[in-house]
Amino acid sequence: MTSTATFDLATRLADLSRQVDDALRHMLPPGNTRPAILHEAIRYAVFTGGKRLRPILCLAACEAAGGQPDQAMPAALAVELLHTYTLVHDDLPCMDNDVIRRGKPTVHVAFGEANALLAGDALQALAFRQAALQPLPSGIPPDAVVLELADAAGSTGVIGGQVEDLAHTGAITDASTTEFIHRHKTADLFRAAIRMGALAAGANHTVLESLTQYAVNLGFAFQITDDLLDAAETTGDKTDQPEFNCVSVYGRDGARQRAEKHITQALQALEKLPGPTALLHAVADYILTRTH
Ligand code: IPE
Ligand code: IPE
Ligand code: MG
Repeated sequence: MTSTATFDLATRLADLSRQVDDALRHMLPPGNTRPAILHEAIRYAVFTGGKRLRPILCLAACEAAGGQPDQAMPAALAVELLHTYTLVHDDLPCMDNDVIRRGKPTVHVAFGEANALLAGDALQALAFRQAALQPLPSGIPPDAVVLELADAAGSTGVIGGQVEDLAHTGAITDASTTEFIHRHKTADLFRAAIRMGALAAGANHTVLESLTQYAVNLGFAFQITDDLLDAAETTGDKTDQPEFNCVSVYGRDGARQRAEKHITQALQALEKLPGPTALLHAVADYILTRTH
């Protein structure tokens, strides 16, 4: 790839991230909406500097399936709102008990535990509202996008993954449990983000299957690299049991090799799509090189 093409891709990714931020700012209730503490907590959770990876993937998948990226904006916002709620709850004292996220106090530290719990609940409702607003072309069932999100978010998706993640806090476990945790707590929402974007473009079964292969592999690679970054840090902000981390199962080199294998498989799945896949390639490359 030429340096001009690399520059253009970086610019396009930054533009999409800005568009997502603008759309979120526009759709969320203003911070002074009663009860103000709740709406301030929601805006604080959403605007503390997330990478916007899942909404960008949703928009990029729409393009790869033959649509225009901004056709999938409601679905992209839905996924980011759902992701944000999972982070707010994940940080609570009864879960990972984290006091810092994205370099800032977590929502329960800034607004109190009950407000953080309720802000997460409200974000989840807003997520499903956005999913329901996604326009879909004829031929795609009108409930398809909401069902994708519900399947990813529920007890056999993210929540199931979070329950097993917590159950293995501090414990070394086997590869199949590790895969279960990574698939559900992380890859399921990547899968939903990408399939929702593809559905907004009217993707057929073959296109959806290829993008699902890309998404699941990307999700695994993302969580493995996240665990590698966590294992490299000494946070010192907690006194409780160490969190579950796949590096204790695979080892550092083994984890790295697995992440690379998943990215290779993700890229193979992009070979026969109807639209441009440069953005999806760029995100895959970023996951192996990211530093935060
Ligand atoms: C963090 O996801 C949660 C995981 C699944 C590891 P991100 O690293 O995408 O979070 P933000 O939104 O960019 O902070
Ligand atoms: C968070 O996983 C996954 C969800 C919120 C669904 P982690 O606990 O591994 O991620 P961080 O380290 O808090 O971002
Ligand atoms: Mg956590």
